[in-house]
Amino acid sequence: MIIVYKSNTGFTQEYAKLLSRELGLPSYELGRVPACHKGGEVIYLGWLFAGTIVGYKRCAKLYNVRCCVGVGMSPPSVELAEGLRATMKIPAGVGVFYAQGGFDINKLRGAMKLIMKVKNKEIAARLNAKAELSEAERLTLEMTKGAASAVCRENLAEVVAWYR
Ligand SMILES: Cc1cc2nc3c(=O)[nH]c(=O)nc-3n(C[C@H](O)[C@H](O)[C@H](O)COP(=O)(O)O)c2cc1C
Repeated sequence: MIIVYKSNTGFTQEYAKLLSRELGLPSYELGRVPACHKGGEVIYLGWLFAGTIVGYKRCAKLYNVRCCVGVGMSPPSVELAEGLRATMKIPAGVGVFYAQGGFDINKLRGAMKLIMKVKNKEIAARLNAKAELSEAERLTLEMTKGAASAVCRENLAEVVAWYR
């Protein structure tokens, strides 16, 4: 088993490295995996873009994806992980998890930066309307203000348990 990931601004890469250390498995960026692993078993981590896991389809064509982890700025929920399975058409036997990542507006350029400036206002308005925020929601709100990270080992506990 190896870990393969696709990261845009580095947070998913951080999770891949944490998981690599925790499970003692090598990790490679999608597109830079040594050829000998073709068709082999993979834990895939990809950043979330408009409700999709970036790189999953490409990874699933090249490798035997056993577990897939989406990394986004949203607070985690069971519905979110199951929604990702449906959207990405991930087979029932494959583990699907969500880990809250991070966000940094200054690492974005062009269209993505503009889109997220608008999106962040919507997300912040929704969260500010709530009477109480969970710790994960509070982190998402911080992210909408510019930059924050939720990346930590604990957020990979479900993935680690799945592997063991
Ligand atoms: C254009 C764009 C779309 C995004 N769409 C989502 C989304 O649908 N759901 C979500 O939770 N996070 C979304 N995010 C946030 C990223 O998934 C989040 O910041 C993630 O941690 C980035 O990981 P990376 O640093 O590995 O690229 C989006 C970010 C960008 C720039």
